[in-house]
Amino acid sequence: MLRFGEMKNTLNEHLMGLFSACLVQLFFGAALASAQTPASSAPVFRLDGGNATYAFGVNERGDLQALYWGGRLGPNDVIAPARSFPEWASFDSPNTTTPQEFAGWGGGLFTEPALKITFADGNRDLGLHFVKATHASQDNYVILMKDISREIYVTLRYSMDPDTGVLSRSADIENREKEPVMIEQLAAAQWTLPPAHYTLNYLTGRWAGEWTLNQEPLRQGARVFESRRGTTGHQANPWFAISRQDSPGPAGPLTAGEEHGEVWFGALAWSGSWRFTVEETQLDFVRVTGGFNPFDFGYKLKPGEHLETPVFYGGYSSRGLGGASRLLHKFEIARVLPQAPDPKLRPVIYNSWEATEFNVDQTGQIALAEKAASIGVDRFVMDDGWFGQRKDDHAGLGDWYVNPKKFPNGLKPLIDKVHALGMDFGLWVEPEMVNPDSDLYRKHPDWVLNFPGRPRTEQRNQMVLNLARPDVREYVEGFLDKLLSENDIAFLKWDYNRNWSEPGWDQVPPDEQRRVYIDFIRNLYAILADLRRKHPKVEIESCSGGGGRVDLGVLHYTDEVWPSDNTDPFDRLAMQDGFSYAYTPQVMMAWVTDSPHWLNFRSTSLTYRLLSSMQGSLGIGANLNKWTPEDFTTAKRLIAAYHSVQRTIVRGDLYRLISPRDDSAFSSTESVSGDKSQAVVFAFTHSTQEGRGFPLLQLRGLDPNADYQVIWIEGKALLGTPDRASGAWWMNHGINFDLRGDFGAAAFRLDRVR
Ligand code: DGJ
Repeated sequence: MLRFGEMKNTLNEHLMGLFSACLVQLFFGAALASAQTPASSAPVFRLDGGNATYAFGVNERGDLQALYWGGRLGPNDVIAPARSFPEWASFDSPNTTTPQEFAGWGGGLFTEPALKITFADGNRDLGLHFVKATHASQDNYVILMKDISREIYVTLRYSMDPDTGVLSRSADIENREKEPVMIEQLAAAQWTLPPAHYTLNYLTGRWAGEWTLNQEPLRQGARVFESRRGTTGHQANPWFAISRQDSPGPAGPLTAGEEHGEVWFGALAWSGSWRFTVEETQLDFVRVTGGFNPFDFGYKLKPGEHLETPVFYGGYSSRGLGGASRLLHKFEIARVLPQAPDPKLRPVIYNSWEATEFNVDQTGQIALAEKAASIGVDRFVMDDGWFGQRKDDHAGLGDWYVNPKKFPNGLKPLIDKVHALGMDFGLWVEPEMVNPDSDLYRKHPDWVLNFPGRPRTEQRNQMVLNLARPDVREYVEGFLDKLLSENDIAFLKWDYNRNWSEPGWDQVPPDEQRRVYIDFIRNLYAILADLRRKHPKVEIESCSGGGGRVDLGVLHYTDEVWPSDNTDPFDRLAMQDGFSYAYTPQVMMAWVTDSPHWLNFRSTSLTYRLLSSMQGSLGIGANLNKWTPEDFTTAKRLIAAYHSVQRTIVRGDLYRLISPRDDSAFSSTESVSGDKSQAVVFAFTHSTQEGRGFPLLQLRGLDPNADYQVIWIEGKALLGTPDRASGAWWMNHGINFDLRGDFGAAAFRLDRVR
């Protein structure tokens, strides 16, 4: 064992400069400094994409070791092979001091493991060593690892998106032992950042209060974000961004902000219980480990079986949080969404929920549909209340037949009318739930998640069907397939209005029951995939009492999400701001509803409500029976304006010019089309004081040499503002305009004219 002084010297060889001002040089500097290492030494794996490079290698112990993640390196730059770190005194072994790519729990590992296993004989020690690498194309690696003595194999998959530099990582565990093993903890990936000072950004919320962006300095120790709810959850979203506080800048280090500095980000594609652990280790490395939530977890892997993790995406931007979110938006559009790489723009929808709640019937829905069509709505969606004995939330879930009193001739007359009005038709469903007061529950009380003999906790008077069961899966897929086959339905709003309790599954042996956390979600994904295959024209929205199931897993199968049940247009500005850090506006449905708002009793003008919702994919959810003729005129005009700029808003580069966070009196966003031919700007006031006007807006992302013409959607410029000026003028000089008063809103577009 090294004595303290010796140990320090040895460590210094690796970590020279670790605690110096340019901390990044330490971790990656050690590798780069010895870039001349002969090619015959241990392998280094490197992936380049967009403006990022990611590299890892195999050290002399056989561990897979993180080497570099950051700005793109030169094509001929050599990254030196990995060398493990020595122990830190007698307390931290190299297993802990060396930043491993995917650490098995064993050998004195005190940082977060990626994989923890109990073997049939009671052994709980796991040491994963590199076996081989396959490099099928220049954008991906498949790495095989194996325990030092047992027949446990781990396949790590790496795939780099050449355009955005977003890396997809996942792991697959295979048991080739003769006995089953119990997987107690399994991450999809571990990410290592260079030692530096950072700010951690993460999203939290609750029902009707989703998408709060939190920002705090990262300190030593671990921060844990998770869902134990069986689903993604409102309380935290599986996304993170870590911005560097001492990013290299032209005049010295600067704190990464909205539009400058280094940011590392990640998002997990999983809609079940999940966990991220963000650690700053005692040696100042920052590690993010994320995957299945190990709480109440245990997956029995029988001989010959595999367990594959979801994908954990990670990316790097040198252009602040704004740059990071623009990369993520592009990646989601091009690689994640079911209609990638060019998903259709979302139709402007009308949804009846806030107008009628459960009180739907043929006459009432047709009356709303006629009014919706008159303002330019593209899709009419009937929400909850159309099926079984559903008159409120006490009954009916599970009984997916059309209520004969409300729709005596089925859905066809309504659907035909909606089509005749020039719209397509969408329908609300909540397939994974059942009310105890339903034929389904009376027939199959064993179909719900439960522990026999224990209470079955109800929430919103409903229980969760155990979708992990093959018979439940078959039932759910069967009724949805029938519904879509028998009716001309273009869209499903797929709701999910509670989280799990008593997650028992007594049809399988006790040591396999916790597979429910995985099998449930896999069956959900399988049903969604099957339905899309069988009914390719059907689009789907993921909703869970608002934003309780928004993640890149479900977004692989659904075209849009419902961010929140809170449709207050002022609250929505902050939510939309938070949402946009992780998800593209293309998937963000935003409805215009009634004023005063039911949640905050806040009164706002229809124009304000429309402009707030136009920041995403626009919908109307108001009671149109109460609208005045002027309301219809306003809505028709602004929906037409929205249609003409929608592509720029939802597919362009988003710049958050003024954040609505922290009680800001003002907020503003700008979206610039990919070819820079158009920009759309929204501006909102919360309140103005002492006669102060709206702050000067210096735009971003335009072509400085092109000329742009301003066209007002709502509002007007101050006297003297040119109608036409160069991109340089709009970005450097900036624009002042007249927007005062409480809950004011303005919007304009800039069209390139030369
Ligand atoms: C919760 C959703 O978020 C609402 O939009 C609405 O569909 C209700 N469920 C219906 O029960």
